Amino acid sequence: MERILVTGSAGFIGSHLVGRLLKEGTAACIVGLDNLNDYYPVSLKESRLHAIDSLAAASPVAYRFVKGDICDDDLLEALFAQYHFDTVVHLAAQAGVRYSLTHPSVCLESNVRGFYAVLGACRRHSVGHLIFASSSSVYGESAPVPFREDAATDHPVSLYAASKMCDELFAYTYSKLYGIPATGLRFFSVYGPAGRPDMAYFKFSQQWLRGEEAQLYNEGRCRRDFTYIDDVVEGIVRVMAGGPSAGSTAPSLGEASVPFRLYNIGSGRPVVMLDFIRMLQEALQDAGLLPPDFDAMAHTRLMPMQPGDVTTTYADVSALRRDFGFAPQTSLQEGLRRFAEWMAGHPF
Ligand SMILES: NC(=O)c1ccc[n+]([C@@H]2O[C@H](COP(=O)([O-])OP(=O)(O)OC[C@H]3O[C@@H](n4cnc5c(N)ncnc54)[C@H](O)[C@@H]3O)[C@@H](O)[C@H]2O)c1
Repeated sequence: MERILVTGSAGFIGSHLVGRLLKEGTAACIVGLDNLNDYYPVSLKESRLHAIDSLAAASPVAYRFVKGDICDDDLLEALFAQYHFDTVVHLAAQAGVRYSLTHPSVCLESNVRGFYAVLGACRRHSVGHLIFASSSSVYGESAPVPFREDAATDHPVSLYAASKMCDELFAYTYSKLYGIPATGLRFFSVYGPAGRPDMAYFKFSQQWLRGEEAQLYNEGRCRRDFTYIDDVVEGIVRVMAGGPSAGSTAPSLGEASVPFRLYNIGSGRPVVMLDFIRMLQEALQDAGLLPPDFDAMAHTRLMPMQPGDVTTTYADVSALRRDFGFAPQTSLQEGLRRFAEWMAGHPF
């Protein structure tokens, strides 16, 4: 019976993960930690927490939400001392490539300083497995596609990417020095119900519904490997079931003697953004949100490439499949249909 800490539990991925774990009902206790910052509407984070409360009421798992900051060392110390976590799933971070260009200190504080605080607590309290969110952005513009975990990742093109790279290196070093079993998961453009309003699929939908114009960068020629939220959660749950031990599986980075692994979690099926726009339009029309004659391209301005963006993301998921017998399956049409259905019932 595991004791689990999920940081960023009011966030998109964190809230879906906590919901799934509560439904499964096999853990002894789950503690969710989130500072509920206002990077995007706090009402959305609160509504995710309400949904979690309902699931917790029907679950045998002891659940507690703590509003607090991962940079608060005293708070972390108290939580780790009280709960003796077996597994920590660290998802709290300042997301957003473009935001990291305009708010670099926020990115550094949460993603580097905050990560370091979580790592330190894991070390002091001998946590059994630290799983942490990295990102496809670490591959930058120079890695060959599809992106493999052993590609060089030393040319990040945004501060956000550099912060995630930094986390991977810190975690690797702690694994090597102190034997902390750690797994970094490189997520690829995660989307779905109750998603993040700063991401293109959510933002464009809101803009079209309000009669506003969406802005599509690199004139729609970027390719993105969109990954449905349930697939990401399934990947995390599989990784939670089997932490790395020294020499257990082929290493994705560094030596086999270090209990540290990296995995891509992506669909492995990148789509050109111009095609994505058409699919999103159709999903929103099928959900009755947009009129049948709505032409998304007539409401979308094509813009030049943005600083910090990369032209392509494309995951090689063979390592995840090899070690955990799983790779994302949900088609983009199906995932967008579920997102649009959710959107129809939520006025965010
Ligand atoms: N969604 C994606 O497409 C994607 C892709 C790659 C990587 N990631 C990473 O996955 C993780 C989860 O992403 P998400 O999409 O759920 O983002 P999210 O912004 O919805 O969730 C992150 C949560 O962390 C919280 N948080 C931020 N800083 C904090 C701090 N200092 N202390 C406590 N809580 C803090 C926020 O309030 C938020 O609720 C992040 O680390 C993100 O960088 C996400």
